[in-house]
Amino acid sequence: MNHEEIGHPFLAVHRSMGEQIHALLKSNEVLHSHISPVEHGDDFIAFPLRSVDFSELLKNEISAITNQPLRLIKRTPHVMEKVDPHERIQEVVKHWLKQLAPNEALADQGAFLDTLPYKWERLGELILFPSGSFGQNILTETSKEEQHNLWGAIASALNATSVGIQSPIAKDRVRSSQAVLLHGTSHVNFIDHGIHYEFDACKVMFSSGNVTERRRIGSMDMTGETIVDAYAGVGYYSFPMLINAGAEHVHACEMNPPSIDGLLRGAEANGIADKITVYPGDNQNSLSQLKGIADRCHLGLLPSSEAVWGMCLQALKTKGGWLHVHMNVKEEEIGDWKANTIHQFQSLSDTMGLGFSIRGDHLERVKWYAPHVRHVVFDVECRPYES
Ligand SMILES: C[S@@+](CC[C@H](N)C(=O)[O-])C[C@H]1O[C@@H](n2cnc3c(N)ncnc32)[C@H](O)[C@@H]1O
Repeated sequence: MNHEEIGHPFLAVHRSMGEQIHALLKSNEVLHSHISPVEHGDDFIAFPLRSVDFSELLKNEISAITNQPLRLIKRTPHVMEKVDPHERIQEVVKHWLKQLAPNEALADQGAFLDTLPYKWERLGELILFPSGSFGQNILTETSKEEQHNLWGAIASALNATSVGIQSPIAKDRVRSSQAVLLHGTSHVNFIDHGIHYEFDACKVMFSSGNVTERRRIGSMDMTGETIVDAYAGVGYYSFPMLINAGAEHVHACEMNPPSIDGLLRGAEANGIADKITVYPGDNQNSLSQLKGIADRCHLGLLPSSEAVWGMCLQALKTKGGWLHVHMNVKEEEIGDWKANTIHQFQSLSDTMGLGFSIRGDHLERVKWYAPHVRHVVFDVECRPYES
């Protein structure tokens, strides 16, 4: 028996017709979707078939295209890795459920399978699943060792080493992360659009959803500018301003020690440690040391950064500059909020005798923060009145 008679049935065709035959087999549901096509000699490619028992009409159509009788061969099948990562999680979990000791079998496996997540956030080697994923019972009805096996298998199914569950960001002043680590380490280290970030994801929030705003800020021309970042975090905006927008120096205010740690590590990893001065502690104190030095202030705190609007105006050079004001605003109130914000900055400038004329420029809708509530960033220009 030669090797062409053992194994799974494949249809071999000349490479030049590969694409056309592949499409034909697929549309007629004859192609086996879980087995990889294989090379056959130098010039042929062989497609895995669900069965050799398909219609004479299709066989004739294939022969007409290839201009030769059907060339059916048998080969050892190589099962393709499932491309849909949700399916990969499902497979891992089903396998794990089968291996549970009888006294640990989950009471309602169907309900558990229904809670498997379809989406998640990846921070380097750590996968953070949305809260509510994997049901609740799993933590109470199975042993620590079984849980360890499950999380480890899920991590490797997603090509990661660590997994955790995301929780809403704390409403405390430092907007702490409340993610819970299930396996591995919460110390993450990754590159996002060419920029290194490094921090403890269970202590510090990182909003992957703000990627468009990080890119927008990075695409501005800040060549040679001095920036005050009033809420620097782990460098979400400070780094793109220095690395992509060409800013010369960032004065970064940050009060949360784990965020400061991430900010310093990230600055080092990006090779820009000499371009950032970190001001630990409450920006109510640090901003008072930063008067008249900035071309631009970044005010990235939600729900509002209003507490430092006056101090950020004072931080601008006498020739004026830009403010990037983050805020949560109800969609239908955005127009009023813009007018009100310009009015407020104008009154602050007048009261403090700064002599700026305030102009609203672009308003960026970053993302939905809650139903009907948008996270927006308002670009505000402040320039001395023309005399
Ligand atoms: C919400 S984070 C920035 C998140 C970022 N906007 C993002 O898109 O992922 C705001 C940062 O401001 C810091 N912060 C809040 N209030 C502060 C204050 N009064 N002084 C200094 N830092 C403060 C928090 O510790 C936090 O790291």
